[in-house]
Amino acid sequence: ADYKTNKRHRSSDEGQHGAAESLSAHRQLYERHFPLYKQPVEVGCFSLDSRRSFFNDHRQLRYYVQPTKSPGFNLRDGYTSRFVKRDDSVKEKLDHVLKWILANRDKIQTRVQPPSSSALGVDFVTWRGHLTKVLTTPYETQEGWMLAASRFRGTIYISEVETEAARVNRETRSERQEEMMYWGYKFEQYICADDVDGTPDPGGVVNTNEAFCTVVQTRLADHKLLFSGEVDCRVKDPDAPPAPGCYVELKTSAEICTPKQRSNFHRYKLLKWWAQSFLPGVPQIVAGFRDHDGIVVAVEAFPTSKISQLIKNEYNCWKPTVCMNFCNDFLSFVKSVVKEDNPRGDPNKSDIWGNTPLHHASANGHMQIVSFLVNFGANL
Ligand code: A3P
Ligand code: MG
Ligand code: MG
Repeated sequence: ADYKTNKRHRSSDEGQHGAAESLSAHRQLYERHFPLYKQPVEVGCFSLDSRRSFFNDHRQLRYYVQPTKSPGFNLRDGYTSRFVKRDDSVKEKLDHVLKWILANRDKIQTRVQPPSSSALGVDFVTWRGHLTKVLTTPYETQEGWMLAASRFRGTIYISEVETEAARVNRETRSERQEEMMYWGYKFEQYICADDVDGTPDPGGVVNTNEAFCTVVQTRLADHKLLFSGEVDCRVKDPDAPPAPGCYVELKTSAEICTPKQRSNFHRYKLLKWWAQSFLPGVPQIVAGFRDHDGIVVAVEAFPTSKISQLIKNEYNCWKPTVCMNFCNDFLSFVKSVVKEDNPRGDPNKSDIWGNTPLHHASANGHMQIVSFLVNFGANL
């Protein structure tokens, strides 16, 4: 469970693989008081259309239409005749987040305390999904991950590099797995309307290129964070709290028929659901429980803030404080390891676009890391 850092590509020196420092992911080490996590503030948003093009606006934001308690939605409908699947072999890295930053520098709050030594005014830029993986790491026994970290003008950019195991999984999915990935998006289509006064259109095409993303700023202890995450929908009420307080995360899960299934749901699913929504401050999760044939037999709301109480009866269960303390220590660790600023960055250029280290492709086809590749193995 010790994470090693492989010093690779330090400056222009390649081939240095000496393990430098490590950070333990043993959960016992992180059972401390809950660290400061400031209420995330939305500083902007962006949309990706049906062709995965970036738009600096909320055109893809959808509206939540509450279903009945047992709606009987057929999640198999439209597979594969009304399904356009995003090409997940295309690695977009931080591109969309960086595009947002270039267009919205003035919206980044640089006056929050403590003052930052970085040009952008934040310590870390990343995707919410990468942070979700960090948060759940002390409890993860199945999936390893690899993150690339690069410092540019004082801000550390963290992006994911697909592991070999993840690539093999992606390339060898069964037909059943492929279909079940569709079910989550189909559920969204049954529940979301394109317009505030509209209704869902289950007869339409499910296109997983389309996305609406929020960009939030927050602070975990002394780490100032800016990250983006995909948001499924918002409530229609115009008097609802401002974003991200009005957002709703949609989920599907197998129906729960036995105490064992309930326990597994609490231990594994709710951990991931909680981490994903807690990070950007999304307060509501609406879950559709489906049977083996993809019929939604029950819909239930899980307020994000209530999840930690819900799991307290489970023996030896996960704890939010362990997740957040591990993330805090992980970010401190990254700061201590990724010391050198990107030597390829041109300090005379006023924008980060085009000379961001995370854009160069290295010889092995992975994202090029300028100072370091922080290589995290599975937590076994
Ligand atoms: P479910 O969440 O209902 O499983 P998200 O919930 O993050 O908005 O993602 C929407 C859907 O994308 C998921 O619906 C699931 O179908 C699919 N999906 C997301 N991440 C996935 C992953 N790592 N593996 C397989 N499918 C995934
Ligand atoms: Mg989503
Ligand atoms: Mg969802």
